[in-house]
Amino acid sequence: MDVKNVFNSIADKYDFMNTLMSFGMDRFWRKKVVRISGAGPDMKVLDVCCGTGRLTRELGEALAGSGTVTGLDFSEKMLEGAREYIKDSAAKEHITFLQGNALDLPFKDNSFDCATVGWGLRNLPDLNQGLREMYRVVKSGSVVVSIDMGKPTVPIFKQIYWLYFKKMIPLMGKIWAEKKEEYQYLYQSAMEFKSQSQLVDVFQECGFVRCKYTNLAGGAVAIVFGEKP
Ligand SMILES: C[S@@+](CC[C@H](N)C(=O)[O-])C[C@H]1O[C@@H](n2cnc3c(N)ncnc32)[C@H](O)[C@@H]1O
Repeated sequence: MDVKNVFNSIADKYDFMNTLMSFGMDRFWRKKVVRISGAGPDMKVLDVCCGTGRLTRELGEALAGSGTVTGLDFSEKMLEGAREYIKDSAAKEHITFLQGNALDLPFKDNSFDCATVGWGLRNLPDLNQGLREMYRVVKSGSVVVSIDMGKPTVPIFKQIYWLYFKKMIPLMGKIWAEKKEEYQYLYQSAMEFKSQSQLVDVFQECGFVRCKYTNLAGGAVAIVFGEKP
């Protein structure tokens, strides 16, 4: 399945479906990513795979009136949603959206003070290349933070979670977004993705130090982060 087509075709219902599937928790998870990234006044921030700009806007608002955030995504439809979504934000002058490929970021080395990627890494055909690109464009001492689906380990909860994901998500996608196959892709990509501890290893392979993960929703979602030395 072509990932760009998937996101172009689900863009209009993407945020509604996210809220539904996460029981409204995605907002709070993004705020946690912003806290871990350390985004604040005067910083230059990058949000890779920004989609409809939910995380980008949170980052922009954390700048409190000074600094910039760039949201990058390859789906024109997701970016349309993002531009619309920040229209009423006090931070809108500080946010720019750009169409581009996460595997070949159109920025110079050492350009950003921190970078984030929300539910983006698992969609990349080359995870290491995506992380190496984020490593390249942030400055030394900067943090790169990913939030994505994780792998819960608690027995029973683990089984319920995968059953929910496998059966309920495509069904919900079919009912509310009329896109069963696309939501099946989301299940498939989450299942095939690294666990949070494996992702920490990939961060390390890509050169990051002080790499850690923190679980959300019993490990169904995980934030993984590391620092460029
Ligand atoms: C699950 S959405 C996440 C959106 C957003 N970060 C959020 O927090 O809701 C994944 C996004 O990654 C984008 N994406 C996937 N592969 C990409 C690539 N190679 N380059 C740029 N964007 C990509 C998709 O277009 C989609 O908008």
